[in-house]
Amino acid sequence: MLFIANWKMNMLPAQSLDWCLGNKQELADLGADENIEVVICPSFVSLHQVKGILSLMPGVALGAQDCSAHAQGAFTGQVSAAMLAEVGADYCIVGHSERRHHLAESNELVAEKVRRLVEMQIRAISCVGETSAQFEQQLTYDVLQAQLGPVLKVLAHQKPARLVFAYEPVWSIGTGKVAEPDYIASVVSWLHELWQEQLPDSGALVAYGGSVTEENAAQLGRIQGLGGFLIGSASLNFQKFKNIVHLGSSAL
Ligand code: 13P
Repeated sequence: MLFIANWKMNMLPAQSLDWCLGNKQELADLGADENIEVVICPSFVSLHQVKGILSLMPGVALGAQDCSAHAQGAFTGQVSAAMLAEVGADYCIVGHSERRHHLAESNELVAEKVRRLVEMQIRAISCVGETSAQFEQQLTYDVLQAQLGPVLKVLAHQKPARLVFAYEPVWSIGTGKVAEPDYIASVVSWLHELWQEQLPDSGALVAYGGSVTEENAAQLGRIQGLGGFLIGSASLNFQKFKNIVHLGSSAL
């Protein structure tokens, strides 16, 4: 099971190092369990230093929080998949709802980012999820279909490394509200069917994100077909993150 710590725009470089170094042995122990893979996604500016620590820990991978849709060139401020590959990123989150919302990222742009990541053999963590209004109007599957359509089209022409589809209901992110496990289970199963039908050889995994805490990790971990979690605010505290990893994987 995959446990992805998405630190978002938190943790200064020194704090990121402290988190990893101060909990080095416990972090290594988490990754040493063959059923668990931990992915730490710090800010771009901390990737290099954090990699220096994680590279000595099998089962603990490095992830970025975004990448450019372009391969290289005059795109001031952007970071390419090739740069991420050189710094040692194994994973990269794309299409997070915060970027879709604050930076108006389209489904097509997100799909181009996935293309760049696959070219560099970085595993894309492709995020999808409906807003609260869309949830109320029972539009979840229409929204997910629209968000994933361009991604699936891009992937049909590439041979992707292992992919992660992350279901993160927007109304659940940072709110403390979590959908009913049965509801998440049906979305997870729908996502599995979608990729198995359209990308039969890809070996994709479906993860859930949105207000994952020590309180709900065990229950969420029992959801059939769920392959991992994206953990935001609770991952900033190592002990909370560690407990989530233990509790979320206890049903394995
Ligand atoms: P929270 O765990 O803070 O709700 O954030 C979830 C998230 O956005 C992970 O990508």
